[in-house]
Amino acid sequence: MKGVILAGGTGSRLHPLTRITNKHLLPIHDRPMIAYAIEAVVKAGITELMVVSGGTHAGEFLRLLGNGHDYGIDRLSYGYQDKPGGIAEALGLAERFVGGDRVLVMLGDNIMERSIRHIAENFERQDKGARIVLSAVDEPAHLCHLGVPELDGDGRVTRIVEKPNDPPSNYGVTGIYFYDADVFQVVAELEPSARGELEITDVNNYYVAQEAMSYDVLDGFWGDAGESIDAYYAVNDFVRAHGANKG
Ligand code: DAU
Repeated sequence: MKGVILAGGTGSRLHPLTRITNKHLLPIHDRPMIAYAIEAVVKAGITELMVVSGGTHAGEFLRLLGNGHDYGIDRLSYGYQDKPGGIAEALGLAERFVGGDRVLVMLGDNIMERSIRHIAENFERQDKGARIVLSAVDEPAHLCHLGVPELDGDGRVTRIVEKPNDPPSNYGVTGIYFYDADVFQVVAELEPSARGELEITDVNNYYVAQEAMSYDVLDGFWGDAGESIDAYYAVNDFVRAHGANKG
């Protein structure tokens, strides 16, 4: 399985901090934010990785990560997204790198308390399809900023709603996604959403409609450090006190 970390976008919710750098290079405790996503992917047993970034600070990723060997990566590739056309568009840039393999996609602003290795192993045991990772979220106001799954009584995802006004469950879809090789065909056929982006939720809903979507629920803390300044500091405080990607 290959790994793809997405680190493009505008980071507008963290302006003005992100006027002078890429969001994923901002510090979280003692490391740049993206280092946590890389550690999560490497600890999941994946050593071939592509980082997709964009904007005027993309070159800084090379300066930080080099050939990736210091981070436990065997082969590190870089992709460049010309404009922030959405998470699924950024993923599409990794097609040749992934080369027909399976792929773990991580959003570079997501940070977890615990290792996701067991979830990668669950996906390895899955014949085909996709797998998402949910986190219990108590506050309805927070769910409105996330993808939220609707679940039936048999533990299946019946649909995912992006940034719902009326959340269909108390789970957020985290930025950790597992896909089979069909995902690039799915991305190629997407239409832009109302906000003009290729949405990862539309990719996920394709797999839901095929009855090919599984999920795990995360243990421990999960944060999206790019969601707001408050979320950024909440993630910082958590990681400083408790660490990340443990176990
Ligand atoms: O963090 C989890 C949430 O991430 C999910 O619950 C949502 O379903 C999913 O859509 C996403 O929502 P966000 O509003 O947080 O997405 P955002 O636009 O902030 O992008 C998340 C990451 O994706 C960001 O860290 C960089 C990358 N990205 C984003 C865009 C729009 C790119 O690489 N290129 C892009 O064009």
